[in-house]
Amino acid sequence: MARNDSLEQIVSKEEIAKRVKELGRQISQDYKDKSLVIIGILKGAFIFMADLIREISVPMQIDFVRLASYGNLMQSSGEVRITKDIELNIEDKDVLVVEDIVDTGLTLQYLEEVLKLHKPASVKICCLIDKKERRQVSINVDYVGFDIPRGFLVGYGLDFEENYRELPGIFKIIPGYEPEGFIPSDK
Ligand code: IMP
Ligand code: MG
Repeated sequence: MARNDSLEQIVSKEEIAKRVKELGRQISQDYKDKSLVIIGILKGAFIFMADLIREISVPMQIDFVRLASYGNLMQSSGEVRITKDIELNIEDKDVLVVEDIVDTGLTLQYLEEVLKLHKPASVKICCLIDKKERRQVSINVDYVGFDIPRGFLVGYGLDFEENYRELPGIFKIIPGYEPEGFIPSDK
């Protein structure tokens, strides 16, 4: 499908690979004697997670959740719901949540609360991109790939209207039209 969006590369494939290696090394040290369970948030985190777990040298189990938020296209409303739950038992496990982007923080705040009901030994968060400009709740992100303050980003798993997930780098997108929720500062 031809689209009229313009894309500007912000992070290259090589820079991502280098940073993912560093994160993997750090996580491997921190989880040396723990029972690590990595929980990826679908769909956005799937590529990041696939690369990250292969840079981690300690044993782990992996699982996924899928969350839906009632929002407009470019900003979540904070009303989050789980559409696919975890399948592993995480009681007494050391959970590391892998997310694509932390934006308002509402999605992760909700997920963290739900996961804690399962009584894990610990819950930490690793995100590819920390986008602090629109943060609404204070949440502690333990591992951050890249700080990118603003803009709507696609590629490396991230989408705009389900497009561009396959791009190997991270790009800032200016849509060919202005969807609901698009604010000028995103440009
Ligand atoms: P929030 O932290 O609850 O606002 O929402 C984070 C979620 O919104 C992420 O998991 C992404 O799915 C989505 N999101 C936020 N910013 C972007 C972006 O720049 N590109 C693609 N998805 C985004
Ligand atoms: Mg997401």
